[in-house]
Amino acid sequence: MTHAAPDAATAPLAQHHDRILILDFGSQVTQLIARRLRESGVYCEVWPFNAAPEARIRGFAPRGIILSGGPASVTEAESPRAPEVVFGMGLPILGICYGQQVMAHQLGGTVEGGHLREFGRAHIDVTGDCAITQGVWSRGAREQVWMSHGDRITKLPEGFRVVAASEGAPFAVIANDERRYYGTMFHPEVVHTPHGAALLRNFTHIVCGCTGDWTMGAFRAEMIEKIRAQVGSGRVVCGLSGGVDSSVAAVLLHEAIGDQLTCIYVDHGLMRANESEQVVATFRDRFNIKLVHRDASDLFLGQLSGVTDPERKRKTIGRLFIEVFEEEQTKIGGADFLAQGTLYPDVIESVSATGGPSVTIKSHHNVGGLPEGMRMKLVEPLRDLFKDEVRVLGRELGIPEAIVGRHPFPGPGLAIRIPGEVTKEKADILRHADSIYLEEIRNAGLYDAIWQAFAVLLPVRTVGVMGDGRTYDSACALRAVTSTDGMTADVYPFSMEFLTRVAGRIVNEVRGINRVTYDITSKPPGTIEWE
Ligand code: XMP
Repeated sequence: MTHAAPDAATAPLAQHHDRILILDFGSQVTQLIARRLRESGVYCEVWPFNAAPEARIRGFAPRGIILSGGPASVTEAESPRAPEVVFGMGLPILGICYGQQVMAHQLGGTVEGGHLREFGRAHIDVTGDCAITQGVWSRGAREQVWMSHGDRITKLPEGFRVVAASEGAPFAVIANDERRYYGTMFHPEVVHTPHGAALLRNFTHIVCGCTGDWTMGAFRAEMIEKIRAQVGSGRVVCGLSGGVDSSVAAVLLHEAIGDQLTCIYVDHGLMRANESEQVVATFRDRFNIKLVHRDASDLFLGQLSGVTDPERKRKTIGRLFIEVFEEEQTKIGGADFLAQGTLYPDVIESVSATGGPSVTIKSHHNVGGLPEGMRMKLVEPLRDLFKDEVRVLGRELGIPEAIVGRHPFPGPGLAIRIPGEVTKEKADILRHADSIYLEEIRNAGLYDAIWQAFAVLLPVRTVGVMGDGRTYDSACALRAVTSTDGMTADVYPFSMEFLTRVAGRIVNEVRGINRVTYDITSKPPGTIEWE
């Protein structure tokens, strides 16, 4: 994830809306707190606990603060602390897991390690009432929650009382009504805490008094104003990839600045079936957006000739993309701004639990990414949004469902779904197999239940028999996964009947493929793409 300091162009959009500040201590699920809040109409931002100086917090003017979970232990000397100022602003605070412990510790309570560890589903007994359980849980009830902790509070700070307890966490929910401080030992933000969203909503709406007026309609109108203010009479180029993010960014920009926007679509010849035609039809014909469509497939395929190493493929495509993009934007006379479909998860500054660099598994290349050395200012109209919010905005803008609801597609396209050398012939074979597979998925009504589904053309030939003849053709693999963010993934459990139908169609209809396999590897240990 990249680090991005807020400046005038990226200052919180929602100045007119109620805001909640989430301080991140590095939990894997902190982003889900933000999602739950946004779902209830509350604008919020996630900042690392150590990138929240007093002036920045005061400038953000939140109505309340949430302290996230995290992997550290309060009992370790070097473990993170909340900025002291948050306890001096008179604002409501909700501490979740580590956030609860750090709040208790900083306010004079005691936290100890070495107690019963609780991970996963747990049950708690509601022993009292408070503002965040109001209307959700009743005293005496036993409720399901999701825990993930080793430490626990053993002495409450002054002014706090217990609202719910479990065997492993006697202080599962704590409250200080006077100061409006609340803490949960469990994670309300995950779906495994069935009433978690309602508890969070009580915190934001009842305790913090948020009105929940953060809607996509409001976002659209405000963002248009903001783009106009940033761009003035400047010219903007936007790299279109056919994917959801760049499509939504382009249509939003066009609504804001009309013909000051030119979109550049670099076709590397490794798109899915009919994708290029659809991009041109949608953006040029339907939305009337100035669109440069550069068919650079010969160039890309030529330079990929003989390249078999996955990283070299990615680097070659990335380099060529930038070269072609630069060429095209020079042809149109240059621009003052480069628009990108950067999303909020890319902007959130991450907290590294270990402080160490992470390993590069694959060098991801986003078509439409920022060509280094280009001296243009950035316009990033989606940098406040999560992927699902971008889809809502896309629908609000009238972008066809075929684009808004489309599965993610990697920048290097089919090249990384053809292990070994990429050729036009192989790309054509793969495109055909892939389109049959996706057609069957759509016909079965399964498309939206799947995060990503695609075919892979394998670099092995196998023997088959068709009619009276022997065949010696390529094998292909089908992949389909469910996921929430692409970081982890589960295999989609198709029925055997479905798989055999698709396999039958592919072998019968695609010349060059005589065998079909289904990839049943989850991520980890596999990755979603094959290269
Ligand atoms: P992996 O294969 O790493 O993929 O499990 C995770 C998600 O990222 C997509 N992906 C890419 N997206 N440029 C992109 O824009 C890339 O180079 C790239 N490589 C993988 C992949 O499709 C999946 O959604």
